[in-house]
Amino acid sequence: MRLEHRVAVVTGAARGIGRATALLLAREGARVGVVDVVPEVAGTAEAIEQEGGRAASLVFDIADPVRVSEGVEALRQALGPIDILVNNAGIVGNVAPVARMTPEAWEREIAVNLSGAFHMIQAVIGSMAERRWGRIVNVSSVAALGGLHNQVGYAASKAGLLGLTKTVTLEHARDGITCNAVLPGLIATPLVTAMPAEIREGAVAVTPARRLGEIEEVATLIAFLVSDSAAFINGAEIPVDGGLRLNAASLGSRKEASAVRRTP
Ligand SMILES: NC(=O)c1ccc[n+]([C@@H]2O[C@H](COP(=O)([O-])OP(=O)(O)OC[C@H]3O[C@@H](n4cnc5c(N)ncnc54)[C@H](O)[C@@H]3O)[C@@H](O)[C@H]2O)c1
Repeated sequence: MRLEHRVAVVTGAARGIGRATALLLAREGARVGVVDVVPEVAGTAEAIEQEGGRAASLVFDIADPVRVSEGVEALRQALGPIDILVNNAGIVGNVAPVARMTPEAWEREIAVNLSGAFHMIQAVIGSMAERRWGRIVNVSSVAALGGLHNQVGYAASKAGLLGLTKTVTLEHARDGITCNAVLPGLIATPLVTAMPAEIREGAVAVTPARRLGEIEEVATLIAFLVSDSAAFINGAEIPVDGGLRLNAASLGSRKEASAVRRTP
C-alpha cells in the first residue's frame, strides 16, 4: 500500500468525487478525515471502517476560517498530524449570465470553492512544513481554462485555485510539500447525471472521449499525486477530462454544442 502511516483529509467527502477519493486513499492505507457540510459524510467514514480502514468524520463549512481551524485540530487529535489534504468541496451556486448573477451567489462560490481551499491549506501547511512532507491537491475544473457560460463565479473560483496552487508550490516545494491541481471535465456524479438530457448530451458531444468520466478516474489521479511516487510533480494543472478542455469554449452553450454534434 502506498499511503501507509499517512493521514489524509478530504473535503466534500459525503458523496461524488470526494467520497470516491476518501475510499481510495483509505484502501491505499491512509487514515482519512472526511469533511462536509452535510451529516451524510458520516456514511463515508463508516464505509471506510467497514473495509477495515480508519476514518473520522466532521461536519463544518470550509468557508468559515474559525470552524476550519477548530475542525482541522479535532481531526489532528483523532488521527494524527495531517500529511495529505484534498480540497475537493465545491458548489455551483447559481447559473446565470454575468449581467444577472447576484453578488451573493458570486461571493458564496468564491467563499466555498476558493477561500475554503485557502483556509484549509493555512490550517495544515505549517505542520507539513515542520515535518518536511506534505501533499495538497486542489480540485479545480476545466472551467478554469476556458471559462463557462452562465457560471462566472464558478469559473473564476476554479481559475483562482490555479493561482493558489502555484503559489503554495513556489513557497513550500523546498519543504517537501507538493501542491497540484486536478481539472476534471464532466464526471458522472448525481449532479451531472441529473442534468437535462439535452445539456448532458451536448457536453458529451464536445468531449473527445464521447463519454462522461467516472469518479474513480479522478480519485485514481489524486491517489497518485499524494503518493511518494509523485514527489517531483509540483504546481501542475492536470486535466482528467477525456480531452474536453480542447473544446471547453463550447461547454455550456447549447447552440454551439448542437453545432458540434452536427459536424461529421
Ligand atoms: N462532477 C463534475 O463533472 C465536476 C467537474 C469539474 C469539477 N468538479 C469539481 O469536483 C469537486 C467535487 O464535485 P462532485 O461532482 O463530486 O460534487 P458534489 O456536489 O457531488 O460533492 C461536493 C461535496 O462538497 C460538499 N460541500 C459543499 N459546500 C461545502 C462547504 N462549504 N463545506 C464543506 N463541504 C461542502 C457538498 O455537501 C458535497 O458533498 C467540486 O469541487 C467540483 O467543482 C466536478
